[in-house]
Amino acid sequence: GLKVVVIGGGSSYTPELIEGFIRFHHELPVRELWLVDIEAGLHKLEIVGNLAKRMVERSGLPIEIHLTTDRRLAIKDADYVSTQMRVGMLEARGRDESIPLKYGVIGQETTGPGGMMKALRTIPVLLDICRDIEELAPNAWLLNFTNPAGIVTEAIHRHSNVRSVGLCNSPIGLRKWLTNAYEVESERIYTEFVGLNHLHWVTRIDIDGEPKLPQLLGDTEGFSAKNVPSKGWDPAFLRSLGALPSYYLKYFYMTDEMLKEQQESFAREGNRAAVVKRVEEELFKLYSDPDLSEKPKQLEQRGGAFYSEAAVNLMRSLHNGTNDIQTLNVANNGIFDFLPKEASIEVNCVVTKTGPLPLPLTNVPTHVKGLIHAVKTYEQLTIEAAVTGDRGIALQAMVHHPLVPNVDIAVKLLGEMLEANRDYLPQF
Ligand code: G6P
Ligand code: MN
Repeated sequence: GLKVVVIGGGSSYTPELIEGFIRFHHELPVRELWLVDIEAGLHKLEIVGNLAKRMVERSGLPIEIHLTTDRRLAIKDADYVSTQMRVGMLEARGRDESIPLKYGVIGQETTGPGGMMKALRTIPVLLDICRDIEELAPNAWLLNFTNPAGIVTEAIHRHSNVRSVGLCNSPIGLRKWLTNAYEVESERIYTEFVGLNHLHWVTRIDIDGEPKLPQLLGDTEGFSAKNVPSKGWDPAFLRSLGALPSYYLKYFYMTDEMLKEQQESFAREGNRAAVVKRVEEELFKLYSDPDLSEKPKQLEQRGGAFYSEAAVNLMRSLHNGTNDIQTLNVANNGIFDFLPKEASIEVNCVVTKTGPLPLPLTNVPTHVKGLIHAVKTYEQLTIEAAVTGDRGIALQAMVHHPLVPNVDIAVKLLGEMLEANRDYLPQF
C-alpha cells in the first residue's frame, strides 16, 4: 500500500481528494493518508479529518487517515506528497487582491503583483518542505498545487532535488466543458495546451481526429449560449488569435474591463478572499455534521472544484506507468526554444513511471510567444527575489510584469506590499 501526505490537509478542498482516493483505490492502493497542517489550522484539520474518516469508513476501504502537525513524521517514507497550502492564509490573499486595486492595477491571487507576493511568501516554505523530503523520502513524488503553481514548481526544480510536478485544475476543467458541449467521452478529445500555468492557450482541439477549433472560435455566440469559456471575448479577435485563451488571459487582453469588473465586485461583495471566506465558513459548518460522509455539492462553488481528478490521475499514472497524456507543469527542456530549459511550462505530457515527458507542440502561434516570454521573465525574477530577498530584483520583477504600467507605480506597490507582508517575508 502507498503512503500519501497532504500538506495543508485542513483545507476545505480536502474532501475532493478523499473522494478521488476512494473512487480509484483499485488503481491507486493508498493505505496511509497523512493530513498535515500547522497549529493555527488544527481546528480545521480536525473537522476535515473527521469527515475524511467518515468518508473512508463508508467506503469500507482499508485507508488509514492520520491527522498531524508533525510534518517530518508524516513525510518519512512517503510515496506521494501533495501541497495545497496558503502561507498567510486568506488574510494575506485579501491584501494581495486589494492593494493593487488602489493603484489601478489588477488585484489577483496568482496573476500580477498579488501573485508575486504569494510567490515570495510561499517559495521559502515550499523549499523547506523539500529539504524534509530530500532527507526523509527521497523517492517521493511531490505534486504541487500551491499557487502560483507554475512559479512555485519552477522554484522547486531549480532549488531542490525533489521529483516534482505542478498541477492545476483548469486544463481538466476545459476538457470537462468540451465533453459536455460535444457530448463525447473525454478519450475522443485531444486538446493541445501551449504556455504557462494560468497563461495558456489551447491551440488544437480534435474530436476523433477531426479539427474542431476553427468552428469553435468562429461560432462564439452559439457556444456562449452553453456557457462556454469563450464568453466575453471579442469573436473577431478570437478567430484571428486562432486559439482558445485561458480565462486568466482576460487580465492581459481585456485589462480595463477586468479592472472595472473587479472594482465593482469588490465594492459589492468584498474581494475574492472575503467571498471564499464565507464559502469556507458554510463548508466547515457542513463538514462538522457527523451525519455527513460524502463530499458536499457546495464545494463546487470554489474555483478549484474537481482538482482531485488532476491529483489522482497523476498519482495513478505515475504508479502504474500508464503512459497516458496529461496537462502538467514541468521543466521546458527545449519545448519552447525561446525559454530556458529550467522554465516551468504547462503543456501536455506523457506520464511514464519515471515521470512526465513533455510532448513537442504542433502549433505555437507567433503572436503568443511575446507574452509567454515576458511573464516567464517576471516569474524567474520573482523566484530569484524569493530566494535571495533582494529588493532590486523584486523591483525588476514587478516593473517587468505586463500588468504593471510604470516604474512609479511599481515602486509604490512593491513598498506597500512588502510592508504588508512583513510577517511572512523573513528573507527581505
Ligand atoms: C482556479 C485555479 C486555481 C485556484 C482557484 C481559485 O481553479 O486553477 O489554481 O486556486 O481557481 O479558486 P477560489 O475559489 O479559491 O477563488
Ligand atoms: Mn490553477
